[in-house]
Amino acid sequence: MHEFRYKGNELYCENVRVRDVADEVKTPFYLYSYKTLIDHYRKLKDAFKSAEPLICFSMKANSNLAILKALVKEGAGLDIVSGGELYKARKAGVEPQKIVYAGVGKKEEEIVEAIKANILFFNVESESELKLINRVASRKGRVVNIALRINPDIKPKTHDYITTGTKTTKFGISFDDARIIFQRQNKYGNVLINGLHVHIGSQITESKPFVAAIKRILNFIDTNALNIKWLNIGGGLGIIYADEKPQTAEEFARAVLPLIGERKFRLILEPGRFIVGNSGILVTKVLYTKKGANKDFVIVDAGMNDLIRPSIYGAYHEILSVTKPITYNLKPKTYDIVGPICESGDFFGKNRKLNEPAQGDFLAIMGAGAYGFSMSSNYNARPRVAEFMIIKGKLHKIRQAENYSDLVKKEIIPSVLR
Ligand code: LLP
Repeated sequence: MHEFRYKGNELYCENVRVRDVADEVKTPFYLYSYKTLIDHYRKLKDAFKSAEPLICFSMKANSNLAILKALVKEGAGLDIVSGGELYKARKAGVEPQKIVYAGVGKKEEEIVEAIKANILFFNVESESELKLINRVASRKGRVVNIALRINPDIKPKTHDYITTGTKTTKFGISFDDARIIFQRQNKYGNVLINGLHVHIGSQITESKPFVAAIKRILNFIDTNALNIKWLNIGGGLGIIYADEKPQTAEEFARAVLPLIGERKFRLILEPGRFIVGNSGILVTKVLYTKKGANKDFVIVDAGMNDLIRPSIYGAYHEILSVTKPITYNLKPKTYDIVGPICESGDFFGKNRKLNEPAQGDFLAIMGAGAYGFSMSSNYNARPRVAEFMIIKGKLHKIRQAENYSDLVKKEIIPSVLR
């Protein structure tokens, strides 16, 4: 499943001992396994082989250029949500005709940039957005492809914050409104509405809600006799963080492909987490252990600014010792593993059993490849950490750690204050 395993008491990333990396570089840092990344992309590609879909990696999950490049070289396209992501996507050398652009709040300048770049299509989330794209396209003398993002009103089992396909969320367009847009599409001479898009949420472990959403979309296509060139079924495939039993790529394909059957449109997938989630870990050092009034704490040098998922979603990430302590004279104790940030929400795990860690021990926070670094910040004036990747047995730096001067580089003291 992934390439982080113990050999004896030592955690390895592929064939490299994580402790050796941690001894060499500054903690905390992200460490990725190239093999795991590519394996997951290929798993999905192989499972859907018969349909030859375009798999657009959702780069919000992790937009490091090396990660993007590795996937682009495998043939992946990219799912973007901002002008910044478009910029990075192009830096990674993806063919523009493999870029799809989602998001409820695209700015005019971002639309201009994407049209100039000649991306495959926009996933459009409202009629006002459609109007603006049409206006910009007309100004540029272009006709651009559009997929309407449908909100199918399906509730998957996942955290509320990452549920996106129910009526109460800001995402997509209802079937009724989409029907009206199709009816008056002649009003919009500079767009071709030739795709449909659906994305119902993230970290969804069963195929049932996906199937239900796709069925509703297909039914919509049939009852309105729509001529569709692309069906974008989004991302959202769940992974194992704890003891989940998520659908495999094959099970997912087996559930989805029969629905599509002989239909003529091209299938598009936009997975992020499935591809990159388990290919990365966050390695951190134990600074102190501390006895609280009724809890014991392990204080580490990574904080919620480096990995915010536990703080905002209460997300579970497994926490492993990079070197397992010799256990014969130790009993595991229960700890909260916390960071140095001045908030009680700054934790990585609560009530976790660990053999008493010593100062200077390294811990690995697992499953940190998706929405880890990409959601990191400089909160508490903490420079962002470095990222490394093991590629074919060798350690590569794929992002420099920031330093203190990076923290002030963009800030200006007005002369009146000097
Ligand atoms: N397509 C669209 C339109 C999306 O909004 C997303 C994710 C994806 C694809 C990729 O979803 P994935 O395959 O990665 O589940 N920060 C949260 C996850 C936010 C997901 C946002 N949208 C987390 O850390 O769990």
